[in-house]
Amino acid sequence: MRLQGKVAVATGVCGGIGQYIVRKLVEEGARVVAVDLSREQLDALQADYGDEVTTITADVTKYSDVEAMIAHAVDRFGQVNIVINNAGIAFPKPLLEHDPDKDFDAITAVNQKGVYHGILAAGKAMQKQGTGGVIINTSSVYGTMASELSFTYNVSKAAVDMMTKCAALEYGPQKIRVCAVAPGRVDTPMLHQYKDLGLWEHIRHEQMRDAFTKPEEIADVIAFLASDAANCINGTTVYASDGFENFKYPLKPN
Ligand SMILES: NC(=O)c1ccc[n+]([C@@H]2O[C@H](COP(=O)([O-])OP(=O)(O)OC[C@H]3O[C@@H](n4cnc5c(N)ncnc54)[C@H](O)[C@@H]3O)[C@@H](O)[C@H]2O)c1
Repeated sequence: MRLQGKVAVATGVCGGIGQYIVRKLVEEGARVVAVDLSREQLDALQADYGDEVTTITADVTKYSDVEAMIAHAVDRFGQVNIVINNAGIAFPKPLLEHDPDKDFDAITAVNQKGVYHGILAAGKAMQKQGTGGVIINTSSVYGTMASELSFTYNVSKAAVDMMTKCAALEYGPQKIRVCAVAPGRVDTPMLHQYKDLGLWEHIRHEQMRDAFTKPEEIADVIAFLASDAANCINGTTVYASDGFENFKYPLKPN
């Protein structure tokens, strides 16, 4: 129970990775404010838990919503110790087919500005509390790797990596750690878009173990980063990617 007595806020909790983040945080003893867009989906998630979980709808693109989710943690549980900025979106599309009025701003608003909002609101609340804390952002291997069909997504995740470093530096004196986790390819609804593109088997064979990372494996890494066991990890992005970014694609199918 590495998170006993801690209060955590996590966004994107109705998604593939997010629902395991909530489960893992609770298993580790935390009380959790679970955040997503849909009241209906949050109610379904809440049904699996008792008083240790409370839910609130918030659109991370709006700073007032993000402030409200942090305030909800303080109102309900008296404090906020861990904030996990996990909400994200992706729409695979070739760059030359982009609509400049839509295809940059939509992803940037959630993946980049949403994380900025979370870092800022969490930092202010933790500074006011004077207790320190931990902020964890969900990045991606594509924050450092180029790939087709995901121009804006990759740019947004590169921004997450840099926001993680800069915030850790500025928040260091407040004893607030800021880390990111970079998954590779995780079997969630976000990745299932590649089924529609007929690329599912192709990308699975590119994985060294011929299998996608499981969302619960990412949640395990996030819970570790949130715990005191990770106190010496700060301002950095931790890769939880099956080594995807380190190797060229195999020539021969498995
Ligand atoms: N699945 C992968 O292969 C993979 C790889 C690397 C990184 N990631 C990152 O992991 C995180 C979680 O992704 P996932 O795979 O679980 O995706 P998912 O699509 O299953 O879940 C994303 C969740 O974010 C929520 N969300 C979207 N926009 C929001 C907004 N404006 N405000 C609040 N919530 C919002 C959605 O409702 C959804 O529940 C994302 O940041 C994603 O970029 C995923």
